[in-house]
Amino acid sequence: MSPLLDIDEVEHRYRDVVALGPVDLQVDAGEFLVIVGPSGSGKSTLLRLVAGFERPTTGSVTLAGRPPRPGRDVGLVFQQPRLFPWHTVNGNITAALRWAGVPRAERPAAAASLLAKVGLGDLGKRRVWEISGGQQQRVAIARALAARPRLLLLDEPFAALDALTRERLQEDVRGLTDTEGQAAVFVTHSVDEAVFLATRIIVLSDRPGRILLDLPVDLPRTGVPAAELRGWAEYAALRGEVATAVRAIQPS
Ligand SMILES: Nc1ncnc2c1ncn2[C@@H]1O[C@H](COP(=O)(O)OP(=O)(O)OP(=O)(O)O)[C@@H](O)[C@H]1O
Ligand SMILES: [Mg+2]
Repeated sequence: MSPLLDIDEVEHRYRDVVALGPVDLQVDAGEFLVIVGPSGSGKSTLLRLVAGFERPTTGSVTLAGRPPRPGRDVGLVFQQPRLFPWHTVNGNITAALRWAGVPRAERPAAAASLLAKVGLGDLGKRRVWEISGGQQQRVAIARALAARPRLLLLDEPFAALDALTRERLQEDVRGLTDTEGQAAVFVTHSVDEAVFLATRIIVLSDRPGRILLDLPVDLPRTGVPAAELRGWAEYAALRGEVATAVRAIQPS
């Protein structure tokens, strides 16, 4: 079977700067891929290529067999929530549903179900400035899910949050790809976050980013409380392995 996402020998340059690659990477439905790599190694560039916002300088990117259509085929979550400040929480989700082509009559129920999914069931009527940063990021995740994308792209979505909120959001996001054949590509600088979330971890080299390590993570996705999982010896071993790979990266 062909992969959901196929990054085929991709290299990307911005004028004379080689930002990424060559990278060859396939992602299947159900995978939660986490990318770790130094600043400037091309992680955001890789996500922009997958989102269809950039065309690769060489090689090709296909999503379900076609080049990605910008703003259409993937759900995006960035470091900052980037919500519409003049809308309520519901208004932000509804705008995304409208953009996704959900009929008007179905939008209220769809918005309620998305908000429930990210644990914000009762905050729909609030204005964006009346909710916390962590809650805003939950809204951003709900918005990214609005079009039922097969692929979710998350670029350091929790970097600006406090440690406790971050752990809670990690627990929620971890389950997103366990159903409905969705996949996620998640960028982080946190090795612990990578091990907790991933079914597979990629470590990129210094710019131009190439794959240094491609590591499957075979920790249980359900049935083990997060705090317990974080205490497992296998968890610590994976964290050690990724941290060692990250520390060994040579400046290029
Ligand atoms: N629009 C652009 N024009 C020119 N150069 C760019 C552009 N966007 C990114 N770059 C360069 O490409 C390289 C990769 O950038 P990118 O943003 O993909 O890195 P990153 O791995 O996401 O870094 P960080 O961890 O800091 O977010 C960097 O050297 C950056 O300066
Ligand atoms: Mg980046």
